[in-house]
Amino acid sequence: MNILILGSGGREHTFAWKIAQSDKVERLFVAPGNAGTAKTVLASGGTVTNVDIAATDFDAIKDLVLREHIGMVVVGPEDPLVQGVHDYFLEDSELSGVAVIGPQKQAALLEGSKEFAKQFMARHNIPTAAYQSFTKDQLEAGYGFLETLRPPYVLKADGLAAGKGVLILEDLEEARTELKKMLVEAKFGNASAKVVIEEFLSGIELSCFVVTDGKNYLTLPMAKDYKRIGEGDTGLNTGGMGAVSPVPFADEAFLKKIEDRIVKPTVAGLQEDELPYKGFVFIGLIKVGDNPYVIEYNVRMGDPETEVVLPRVKTDLVEIFEAVHQGKLDEVTLDIDPRTATTVMAVSGGYPEAYEKGKEITGEEAVEGALVFHAGTTLKAGKTVTSGGRVIAVTSYGKDAEEALQQSYKNMEKLHFDAMYYRKDIGFDL
Ligand code: AMP
Ligand code: GLY
Repeated sequence: MNILILGSGGREHTFAWKIAQSDKVERLFVAPGNAGTAKTVLASGGTVTNVDIAATDFDAIKDLVLREHIGMVVVGPEDPLVQGVHDYFLEDSELSGVAVIGPQKQAALLEGSKEFAKQFMARHNIPTAAYQSFTKDQLEAGYGFLETLRPPYVLKADGLAAGKGVLILEDLEEARTELKKMLVEAKFGNASAKVVIEEFLSGIELSCFVVTDGKNYLTLPMAKDYKRIGEGDTGLNTGGMGAVSPVPFADEAFLKKIEDRIVKPTVAGLQEDELPYKGFVFIGLIKVGDNPYVIEYNVRMGDPETEVVLPRVKTDLVEIFEAVHQGKLDEVTLDIDPRTATTVMAVSGGYPEAYEKGKEITGEEAVEGALVFHAGTTLKAGKTVTSGGRVIAVTSYGKDAEEALQQSYKNMEKLHFDAMYYRKDIGFDL
């Protein structure tokens, strides 16, 4: 079968690396991809083809799918899903037979609208922080709700805001000011036309990944990512600076609570609400005391969590995706590598604020006993150069996080580009 992956980050390179190992694949395309995907070799001997099409350019994607006889489209990022790429395929008679991995538009609201997600959780008794939501006509009521809460105050833009739409504020006055900026001054544009205010939960976070055909599901290994730019979890939020899987503090009893209280009711809730869902559910969790609560849903895999989760999945990913498409996920068993996988992400100096691009990346050929996944990279005149904030991730295996991290760091030292930065303390809190 010919397969197309949509997206261009470390997550998509990891998908390409994993799918490339399947003997079910004839040709593999990535739109738009990066320098890492372009160099990925298939089990059959061919290489991956990058196609310069944006992941949200549905008409161009259609042309590509028809021209190259593509039978499966794996959607990496949330934007095409929230914009309805799966529905676009289903509604087109020439495309409706193509397997699209990723939910339809309505269910993608679990990520596209914080309020929709909170209502879903309330309806299905899924543990999460208490909340209320407000529009600009309800500013005074919003102030009133803030007064009933204890600090810190959590304000969330309802819509997609490129990961920046959540504010956590210590001070009531500041929370009032920010609420007004979001609602009245459109601080996050249309995304903050509605704001969810919620109770602050104190605990340690982890990421749970589920793949579902809408009825059956498989729970993939748990992972923990490190979002802050600075060591010791300080400084600005980023897309993610590193990740570890499995998560040592998620023991059997805790995993069972996640399964029973969160994963099962989530999949059952999708069915009850008649929300067709063929794809990944990424459940952002927080462990409060001994209990799991949902912080957020995403309708895709995490990045850089994918860089540690997929390397632990031994099962053929294409076989999993075929079962997702056919509604036969109950016929697949997951084979998981018991080793720990860790990844460390190198970023452009200055990220997540302004940074320069176009810096040559060297040293990749010296990497040994580790996997290199490209994120913001591109090929330019035969050279691999930086093209984004998060640039390149080094994933390693070990008997525990310490051993795997040593291997990731040893290999990271061999890579170089101007103003390269990475955190040296991934896993510090485990
Ligand atoms: P989100 O975009 O919903 O994942 O929120 C971004 C980050 O804000 C999360 O990863 C948490 O660290 C934090 N956060 C969100 N909601 C809460 C909450 N109710 N209590 C504590 N921290 C939160
Ligand atoms: N690493 C968090 C995310 O992908 O949203």
